[in-house]
Amino acid sequence: MNLNPLEKRKLVKKKLRKLEGLPTFPPIVQRLNLMIEDEDSSIYQIAELIEKDQVITTKILKLANSAFYGFPKKVSTVQNALMLLGVNVVKVLIVTSSIFEIIYREDVGLWEHSIGVASCSKILAERVGLKDPQEVATTGLLHDLGRIVQRVTFKEDYKKILELVKNGKDPLQAEKEVLGIDHAEIGSFLMRTWNLPDRLVETVDAHHDLKRTKKFKKEAAVIHLSDILIHVRGYGTSLYQKIPPLQQEALKVLKLNLFEIKDIFFKLEPRLYELKFFTEELRREMEVSS
Ligand SMILES: [Fe+2]
Ligand SMILES: [Fe+2]
Repeated sequence: MNLNPLEKRKLVKKKLRKLEGLPTFPPIVQRLNLMIEDEDSSIYQIAELIEKDQVITTKILKLANSAFYGFPKKVSTVQNALMLLGVNVVKVLIVTSSIFEIIYREDVGLWEHSIGVASCSKILAERVGLKDPQEVATTGLLHDLGRIVQRVTFKEDYKKILELVKNGKDPLQAEKEVLGIDHAEIGSFLMRTWNLPDRLVETVDAHHDLKRTKKFKKEAAVIHLSDILIHVRGYGTSLYQKIPPLQQEALKVLKLNLFEIKDIFFKLEPRLYELKFFTEELRREMEVSS
């Protein structure tokens, strides 16, 4: 069946709505949502609910302790994680926890790219004074979510995209040509169906094209620039064979000069070094569990 990009786009969205080939949410999510909506519930009660699920608890603590958040002290309890990361970020991590495993298993290069971007976004968000830098870091972690979805849910199309990129086509163009939609939009579309906060959804949508957001320009600029810096640094891999094009607007929005960017590189290096251990540890665990 040969569909034009517009028809293809409709089909992709239909498939995404049904979450074909994607993991279902952990059962705890629904109860957690109710609890978060209820203004009377305390952090202590939310922590108690999460702790009932051992697997989720372990995952949350591991993510909270990883170098992309860069907390100086060990985060040892769920309550601690809730206080440091905020209830919203913990919820996002619970909802998306099984996705991280898929990214890791299917594409280690993309996983490394994602944690690198998360790490850099945290440093940049702090530098430009954005609120909740840990939420921005979490957005960095998820920014290329659409890429893994293409790979897992649209296998045949993904092969075609790879082929086009190999022949020199720009990855975003290749995605639009084959699927009628790029990974930024796929990611944000899914995140919206999962009811994740607007700040994350809109930022992911705009991470290659700042024009796609009005409200979260700074956040999108942080992710955009982090994406490029991580490519420049050569940490992990993504579909881009070379460095993706920089939108000059990002530098204007963030009011950063080259000297400051150099300083960010300097701060980033020890975090990236630590992240190597994090990935190593994850690899060992996966080997044990498989
Ligand atoms: Fe991207
Ligand atoms: Fe990226």
